Amino acid sequence: MTSTQRYLVQGGKPVSGRIRCLGAKNFATKAMVAALLAEGTTRLLNAPRIGDVEITRKLLAASGAKLDWSGDSDLAIDASTIRSCDVPVPDSGSNRIPILLLGVLLHRIGEAHVPVVAGCNIGARPVDFHLTAAKMFGAEIEVAPDGYRARRSGPLKACHYRLPYPSVGATESCLYLGVLAKGTSIIEGVAIEPEIMALITMLNTMGARVQLKPNRELIIEGVDRLYPTTYDVLGDRIEAASWAALAAATDGEITVDGIDPATLINFFGPFNSVGGGVSIEGPRSIKFFRRHPLRSIVLETDVFPGFATDWQQPFAVMLTQASGISIIHETVYERRFGYLEALSALGAKTQIETHCLGSVPCRFRGRDFPHSAIVRGPTELRSDGITLDVPDLRAGLAYVMAAALAKGETTITSVQRIERGYGELAVRTKGLSLPLQAF
Ligand code: EPU
Repeated sequence: MTSTQRYLVQGGKPVSGRIRCLGAKNFATKAMVAALLAEGTTRLLNAPRIGDVEITRKLLAASGAKLDWSGDSDLAIDASTIRSCDVPVPDSGSNRIPILLLGVLLHRIGEAHVPVVAGCNIGARPVDFHLTAAKMFGAEIEVAPDGYRARRSGPLKACHYRLPYPSVGATESCLYLGVLAKGTSIIEGVAIEPEIMALITMLNTMGARVQLKPNRELIIEGVDRLYPTTYDVLGDRIEAASWAALAAATDGEITVDGIDPATLINFFGPFNSVGGGVSIEGPRSIKFFRRHPLRSIVLETDVFPGFATDWQQPFAVMLTQASGISIIHETVYERRFGYLEALSALGAKTQIETHCLGSVPCRFRGRDFPHSAIVRGPTELRSDGITLDVPDLRAGLAYVMAAALAKGETTITSVQRIERGYGELAVRTKGLSLPLQAF
């Protein structure tokens, strides 16, 4: 991994060219955890060499697994030698993987000690659904000052659990817990993001018996053992959407390789409404551009198949270039608009509201969370040497986009937060006319 600390971006020109998006971080890391469920060596193809995968590699290695890279993106995980139930605190201090190891280590070792860690700085991000799920499957959980201690006496047992909200992570926890539990579990209200579909498919290739029913219901018939597999990591739909928004925002043309258009299903509609254009160039290759002058939109984020919460930051940058008043209602995380302050420093006209500015039923109604935003456009962004400090991964790429739009030079600091999910951007964006230098 790099020791890059900051980027210098000279913006103000259309960004065009070609980029290959990485394998999806939010599947690759979960697939690495799934590999621990089977004795033997699982291979992940198209695994991204990014900070979060490295953090996950260290967490898995601490449990006794052996992980080896070959080439750029082929990761072998030998889980025959798992022996430690102590999950260390990740290097970054924040990451969602430790809690996902709870179910896996319970199966493999009978015990798991998981530290309490946060994720990105976008909301409280509790783990109550994960802990309730583990208890429903028969684990005993003790809350210690440094984390959670889970143990089982005898095998975990199937259960019927209705998730209070279609949480991606909690759905993954239920999958890990259910596939090797005794009996048939029913999990209602699950998340169905493309990365979850990929995880279910991968587990089934390992010998699991998981069926997704209509209405967000999983039927998991527990089996006695799982077998290693070889699995191809799908392209990162969040990264692809960000390059799309950059192309339309700057009036450039960006071809993104390595992405399945089907994973962008509900991105294309709003993108086209704003004025973006899309052309399929070949298998897993999409060209994005501006088809019409950009115009405002009303947008609400939601769980899949809704408009992804991780798409709203690049989209907001694009909306600074759209004429009219755009509204974004964020219904997944309660505090995901902090990054708008930085856009305002570059001249964007934005306003944050605690009211629900939309009709999607929202858990944050009446709770005073800053979860709606207004973006007025078009505004010319300018930077006379402004420095932006990256608060979290997705906001970070939005800052790079805003800096690319803004006339002048922008410095972006704490870029290790960006590289956790996007790798070395200065190297990866060589095929784009994006004047970005890393220091
Ligand atoms: N929630 C709870 N209790 C829980 C779990 C979740 O209240 O036990 C709440 C959360 O606080 C949040 C909502 O449920 O308000 C959704 O959280 P979810 O569990 O779905 O999110 P996650 O699994 O922690 C993953 C991605 C996020 C992505 C969300 C939603 C990973 C590592 N992270 O998070 O991605 O935004 O799903 O799609 O897969 C990112 O990649 O930068 C990122 C934040």
